[in-house]
Order: sequence, then C-alpha cells, then structure tokens
Amino acid sequence: FDIIKLKEIDSTNKYCYKLGKKGKRNLIVVSDIQTGGVGRLERKWYSNFGGLYFSMLLDLEEFKKRCSNNNIGKLNFLGSLSVVETLKCYLKNGNNTYNDIDNNINDNNKVNSAKYNNNNNLGIKFPNDVIVRINNNDKKLSGILSEVNMNYGFLVLGVGVNINNSIPNEIKDIAISLKELGGKEFDRFNILDKYICNFENNYFLDDDKILKKYKRYSLTIGKYVKIITPNKEIKGKVLNIDYNGIYLENHNEIEHISVGDCIHLR
Ligand code: BTN
Repeated sequence: FDIIKLKEIDSTNKYCYKLGKKGKRNLIVVSDIQTGGVGRLERKWYSNFGGLYFSMLLDLEEFKKRCSNNNIGKLNFLGSLSVVETLKCYLKNGNNTYNDIDNNINDNNKVNSAKYNNNNNLGIKFPNDVIVRINNNDKKLSGILSEVNMNYGFLVLGVGVNINNSIPNEIKDIAISLKELGGKEFDRFNILDKYICNFENNYFLDDDKILKKYKRYSLTIGKYVKIITPNKEIKGKVLNIDYNGIYLENHNEIEHISVGDCIHLR
C-alpha cells in the first residue's frame, strides 16, 4: 500500500472515494484530524488530534477473488479482526482477554455464556466495533465504516481508533482511548504499521478462517442483546455470527438479522 499522510481533511473515506473514482487503488489515506469524520448510520465520528483516522482504498474485483461466496461484507470482519489483533498488542492483559469460542460451543452448536474473568476485556462488538468491557460497561476504542462503489469498482475501508485523543464529554460513557487504558501515549504510526501488517496477513486467509478468528474475539456471541434495525427491534441471546449476520434465540426460535445496531444487555 502507498500511504498518503495528511494534516487535515474532511473525511479520509470521502477522500479515498474521490481517488477511487480517478482510478487509484491500493492506497491508504491517513489524516491527523478530520473536520467531517463520518461513522455508521450517518453519525459523526469525532476526529480531534491524537487519534488514528485512516481509510484503505481497495480494488473490488481483486477483493472479490478472495471471497469464496462473493460476499464483500467480509471486509468488515477483516478490518475489525485486524484492528483488535493490533490493539491487543498494546494493552497489558491483551493476550488472554478474548473468549475462546471453539471451547464454548456445545453439541447443539449453541454458545454457552462466555466467561469473562478480566475487567480489561478487549474484543469485537457486532458488527465491527472494537470495544473494551470494563466493569460490565462497553467502551468503544475503534469503529469501522466500509463503503463500496460498484460503478467504479472499488472499496473503501475506513478505520478510526481513539489513541491519544481526548474523548469529548458527550461520548465519555461509551468511548475510551488507548491512552486512558494504557496510562501513556502511543505512537499512532507504529499502530498503523502493525495494523497494515495484520491486515495483509489476514487478507490471504480463507473466509472460514477469518470468521473463526473474528468469532474468537467476539464479545457479542453468548450475550443477551437488542438489535435495532430500521424497521424493528429484536432481543435475544446471540447464538452465532457469520457473514450473513447475527443469529438470536428468542422464545425458542432462531431469528436471523443481517445488519443492525447491537446493544449488549447482559
Ligand atoms: C463507526 O463506528 O460508526 C465507524 C467510524 C469510522 C470512522 C473512520 S475515521 C477514518 C474514516 N473516515 C471517516 O470519515 N470515517 C472513517
């Protein structure tokens, strides 16, 4: 990847989009600050100095070749997996904080409640937030926004990570920075390098393997959750997650939801 480093931009996703239309590919755009950072569901992404804000511009056809089921939704799994693998290296308890899903599935393919014996639990909240669970509260460290342009044939994977940036008061309850967690400042570009390395390694894994790794870091599987979609809200215990979405047990029935906002209830 060629890396374009900027001091300020409205949004690295938007910038990649423009470059994508001009035919550019295999680029990473990173900016010190974003004046109009965007999140999922048209939310704002606070992007003051000290955080890591970057977007990857990928070729759609090249990416599809790597997807056995043509499901480009895999990009989100690849992104969040690579972020969590990166961040765990920078946190003290990082190595044993994830729940090992393979040991947690019984014969009926139901997941037992994950056991968390560590209050610095780093993992992925469905679909692709990287969070830490502290005293039973979820705090967001990183978010991902992916976009696809079918006409010009490219993908943009935007990643925002709270590193040394201060978290605005209005989101203090739901967000945290790596600096707050680690008690010191971190080198953003070192983190970006490590992320790229992890991403490139994961890129060549097959779909099943990526999903398996993603699930290992999932803090959503086994939880009782509420999923909010544009037309309904569903509560239930999460049995599984795959490239098609999330599976909840609700009054002895299994509900499948492809996408939505997820709230961990208990
Ligand atoms: C979310 O959790 O809602 C996704 C947040 C994605 C933020 C990143 S920061 C870099 C890139 N540029 C943007 O405008 N958004 C993404």
